[in-house]
Amino acid sequence: MSLTNILKAENLSMTYKRGRAEVVHALTEVNFKIDPAEMVLIFGPSGSGKSTLLHLLSGLEKPTSGSIKYEDKEITTLTDKELTTFRRDEVGYVFQSWELIDHMTAVENVESPMYPSKLDSGELRTKSLKTLRQLDLYDRENHFPKELSGGEQQRVAIARALVKEPKIIFADEPTGNLDQETGETIMRLLKKVCRLGTAVIIATHNEELRRYADRVVRISNGRLG
Ligand SMILES: Nc1ncnc2c1ncn2[C@@H]1O[C@H](COP(=O)(O)OP(=O)(O)O)[C@@H](O)[C@H]1O
Ligand SMILES: [Mg+2]
Repeated sequence: MSLTNILKAENLSMTYKRGRAEVVHALTEVNFKIDPAEMVLIFGPSGSGKSTLLHLLSGLEKPTSGSIKYEDKEITTLTDKELTTFRRDEVGYVFQSWELIDHMTAVENVESPMYPSKLDSGELRTKSLKTLRQLDLYDRENHFPKELSGGEQQRVAIARALVKEPKIIFADEPTGNLDQETGETIMRLLKKVCRLGTAVIIATHNEELRRYADRVVRISNGRLG
């Protein structure tokens, strides 16, 4: 075991209000950590809290209570502006519903999280096209999301997370809409990126992804265990 968890979360809880009176306990007292170059699968049924956990760990939403540290930096107390910068520089995120930007082409979507950047626009474009090709997307770079199939859109979303070479990648049901072969290509690519030093956290209810993981953590009813 390494002493250098890239991410360590303690006693994370998240409650949502539904309607006026109902309170949903989406997560309860969750503890979680991950090392660089480790791939962890968060495995659980629909509604168990996987997406909520990924949102919190990546700084997309703030927990109701608990602590989240990246190396030694607590992110739950950052301002919204600081969080945005943190997310841009450190985090790659593949959303369950992809969240591609409709009015941007595939390659512009891939470039979008890198702005503002130290690289010039030519370098950004070269990098983005290379990443799209790693995901077997050829001749699709100038297509808009609505001109792409579901599987192609999903791969654009994955390219967008990989292109920044982040320290940590979150992928929410990354193979959800893909045929088995494309799913395997994506998992192998995530594994390769992981082996080069990136921590990878995958949420899924797909049993088949278990074999790629260094560690599998179960979640049910908002509790890890
Ligand atoms: N914004 C929200 N408002 C109210 N309830 C929510 C919200 N987001 C998630 N939930 C509830 O929290 C629980 C966990 O949801 P989620 O994290 O999306 O689970 P999973 O990703 O495992 O399917 C569910 O009961 C869901 O209905
Ligand atoms: Mg989900």
